[in-house]
Amino acid sequence: MEYAKGYKTVEESRTEMTKILQYKDINGANRLFGGRLMEWIDETAGIAASRHCGGDVTTAAVDQLLFKRGALLNEIVVLIAKVTYVGRTSMEVRVDTYTEEKSTGLRTMINHAYLIEVCVDENGKPKPVPYGLEVRTESEKAELEGAKKRQEIRKTRKNEGF
Ligand SMILES: CC(C)(COP(=O)(O)OP(=O)(O)OC[C@H]1O[C@@H](n2cnc3c(N)ncnc32)[C@H](O)[C@@H]1OP(=O)(O)O)[C@@H](O)C(=O)NCCC(=O)NCCS
Repeated sequence: MEYAKGYKTVEESRTEMTKILQYKDINGANRLFGGRLMEWIDETAGIAASRHCGGDVTTAAVDQLLFKRGALLNEIVVLIAKVTYVGRTSMEVRVDTYTEEKSTGLRTMINHAYLIEVCVDENGKPKPVPYGLEVRTESEKAELEGAKKRQEIRKTRKNEGF
């Protein structure tokens, strides 16, 4: 695919958001409320995609959202988003969420998610992403290969009406 303005690296889109869990983020079971985490994931993914395309984006789909572990009041939560794939007008963004131990800084993954963000014009209509994605590391290459498979699965699901 041809891209109007060349390429940007995965790292250029990297977006990190850090939170400390407060009462407003906690559900009735004293754990991080899933809806609040989804809001943070959406926000972090949107910023990463916006950094890549250099403009406005909208979330078209939250493709896969896996809750692996909970988080508790007063825990530090870190979200890291990166663009993993660029289509014509859309980008796939992976968001990993961790809790961070205060004494050691050790991070444990509690959630990972893939979102589809679409580059939009001033009327909210899709427009081409001007930059392709330059993958440099082995893990970035593996993510890209995974993203291509996920794209195929999405197309099949769309054709089958899911
Ligand atoms: C997202 C949106 C702009 C797409 O517009 P559209 O007219 O359907 O445009 P298209 O069908 O050309 O899709 C645009 C791109 O998004 C991708 N896309 C759209 N829906 C998708 C889905 N459900 N899953 C994966 N990709 C999707 C398309 O594959 C296409 O990607 P490509 O250009 O890289 O090939 C439009 O549906 C919209 O405005 N949705 C509401 C977004 C919103 O309000 N989000 C916040 C939720 S609260």
